[in-house]
Amino acid sequence: MVNEKVKVAVNGYGTIGKRVADAVSLQGDMKLIGVTKTKPDFEARIAVKKGYKLYAAIPDRVEVFERAGLSVEGTIDDLLEKADIVIDCSPGKIGAENKQKYEKAGVKAIFQGGEKAEVAEVSFNALACYDRAVGKNYVRVVSCNTTGLTRTLYIIKENFGIKKVRATMIRRVVDPKEDKKGLVNGIMPNPVSLPSHHGPDVQTVLDVDITTVAFKVPTTLMHVHSLNIVPEKEPKVDEIVDAFEKEPRILLFSENEGFTSTTKIIEWSREIRTRYDIFENCIWKDSISVVDGEIYLTQAIHQEAIVIPENIDAIRAMFELKDRDESMKLTNKSLGIGEIVP
Ligand SMILES: NC(=O)c1ccc[n+]([C@@H]2O[C@H](COP(=O)([O-])OP(=O)(O)OC[C@H]3O[C@@H](n4cnc5c(N)ncnc54)[C@H](OP(=O)(O)O)[C@@H]3O)[C@@H](O)[C@H]2O)c1
Repeated sequence: MVNEKVKVAVNGYGTIGKRVADAVSLQGDMKLIGVTKTKPDFEARIAVKKGYKLYAAIPDRVEVFERAGLSVEGTIDDLLEKADIVIDCSPGKIGAENKQKYEKAGVKAIFQGGEKAEVAEVSFNALACYDRAVGKNYVRVVSCNTTGLTRTLYIIKENFGIKKVRATMIRRVVDPKEDKKGLVNGIMPNPVSLPSHHGPDVQTVLDVDITTVAFKVPTTLMHVHSLNIVPEKEPKVDEIVDAFEKEPRILLFSENEGFTSTTKIIEWSREIRTRYDIFENCIWKDSISVVDGEIYLTQAIHQEAIVIPENIDAIRAMFELKDRDESMKLTNKSLGIGEIVP
């Protein structure tokens, strides 16, 4: 495969799939060869308008596309024949069902955080465990909340060590496009009993003692995490800030610059990014504190965007194209990460 671009298929052109497709198109060492949809709606038409080759995710639905006046290039099976790797961005749990197709076609596959860890050989976060995915055939990029927690904890662990973490996740109830479900006027412990699945999920990519609780709230923009970390070595606040400032996938926002809530962070991104995608962790600088030797901080995570760079890095690891730092650098540059800081 030397000098050849990796041929990438995206199965499921939804919230994550459309962003992965756009990101793959920006890489010099990858080629997007097609995307799939189950139905010929406006999102399918936009994919075609962008020049993406459209395939039917469910083979017997080709006719449904044809009847809607939207011709497809073939089915997922035809797409897999041409692909080196498929990024499965189908709804949670469907990826595991799709896996047998990928095995049959002999293509590598990346799954998303809605799948159980067992779907893949390894779970993935670029900063914490890039090397684990090197040369692998099946990799799972952990969920948005887990990615956000892992990046921050990795930086703290590398610099100060970690004895223990307690984290509270305040989760956006659904994505902005959703109109079939939601939580209109309540706060839902999710789950009621401890722990939420996020702590164990972090442990699939980072060796750390962590307990998490989570709540769903009626907002669609971002998740917010409140972290309490007991470090091995007590840091000064400035040292923590310095450590975060060195990592481009983490941004620091200040209340006195007007960043008083997630709405303001999103408003900032609406000025600079397509779809207001924030690929970075958004930590409130003013929230970083050390009290009785323990670190406290609050971060916001744009759930629709944060896992996109990780999917790109996972492809490079699986095809052994670059090492961690080189891959992250390329991905960051292509997505504008590190270009504009608040
Ligand atoms: N959204 C987030 O905030 C977020 C963040 C991180 C990770 N994730 C994970 O990413 C995965 C995708 O989530 P999403 O939010 O992008 O979902 P989504 O917006 O509902 O998109 C799912 C896509 O999959 C397609 N699809 C449906 N059934 C399929 C099948 N059998 N085979 C292939 N494709 C199929 C759908 O096509 P049609 O529309 O044509 O039916 C749709 O394009 C999940 O594992 C989720 O947990 C989501």
